[in-house]
Amino acid sequence: MKHCTRRVRSLKVVLLAFVALFCCVPFVADAAPKFSLKLGHAVAEENAYHYGALKFKERVEAKTNGDVHIDVFPNNQLGTGERDLLEGLQLGTVDIYVGSTGPMGGFEKRFLLFDFPFLFKDKKHVYSVLDGEIGQHILSLLDAKGMRGLAWMENGFRNLTNAKRVINGVSDVKGLKIRTMENKVHMAMWRNLGVDPTPMAWSEVFTALQQGTIDGQENPIPVIYTSKLYEVQKHLTLTRHVFSPAMIVVAKAAFDSLPEEYRKIFEEAAQEAALYERSVCDKMENDFIDDLKENGMEVTTPDLAPFQEACKSVYEEFRGELGEDAKLLDQIIAAGKE
Ligand code: PAF
Repeated sequence: MKHCTRRVRSLKVVLLAFVALFCCVPFVADAAPKFSLKLGHAVAEENAYHYGALKFKERVEAKTNGDVHIDVFPNNQLGTGERDLLEGLQLGTVDIYVGSTGPMGGFEKRFLLFDFPFLFKDKKHVYSVLDGEIGQHILSLLDAKGMRGLAWMENGFRNLTNAKRVINGVSDVKGLKIRTMENKVHMAMWRNLGVDPTPMAWSEVFTALQQGTIDGQENPIPVIYTSKLYEVQKHLTLTRHVFSPAMIVVAKAAFDSLPEEYRKIFEEAAQEAALYERSVCDKMENDFIDDLKENGMEVTTPDLAPFQEACKSVYEEFRGELGEDAKLLDQIIAAGKE
């Protein structure tokens, strides 16, 4: 009898376990998220940013058991370009930004540190700075601007494209009308090379190239390929004139509204997503040169020394603007020699 009661009890436990499994699990999965956030970026779904954004979404949603939901909006759906998306973070129309630091100097001038021409030698140099003290310090400056910088991703080394001619040297770029980001160091660099720099939101660039209102633009290989610029640009010059860092940034108001454990999850997920995005971007930078050639682009690699020489005065021009932080520029240069 005793034996029988024990058996009934075990049966009850098994039944309860079944009820819990088949009733509660769907209930948890269907539960509405407690936080719903909008992530925006400016480029195509084939670009490395999008892979990074999806990885961030996946990690956050998994680690919060669905309590936080993130919708990803590619292709400038939440703004006309990166400056607009960053303003959206401050205005509350965008919660999370994945994108370059290009327009950031307009929000916090010390971001201009990364915009100097031919500053970074290679990616080892880049990440010794971004993942080190300087990079973490610069990211932390965003707090005072209503944003929380979570991690460094990448856009890649920027290269010149144009529809007019093959570029073999500095004299060939003279007189070209080139779209730049809204960034005064970049613009000064192009002016020094005899180019007419035309800042423009990214959403307008393809049409401007197609209509011939500008002759060219400059961007990393993954952007050039995934934005199909080969349809409107014949010449690609591997100038690698600026390394373009990218970031995951959260609107401070949205970040502060999360419980502390979720803020920690955001930080961890951002690191994971950033490492993943860097590897995707790096692979694209190597692989897509051949794809661009196959799509009709003529690719040249001129001697970059004369370009570097012509851009030297940009350093003196903007040191003053950085004030005391100009010493960080020297530290970045020194890190490249280690
Ligand atoms: O040129 C730009 O505006 C940026 O490099 C882009 C394409 C939006 C990616 O960050």
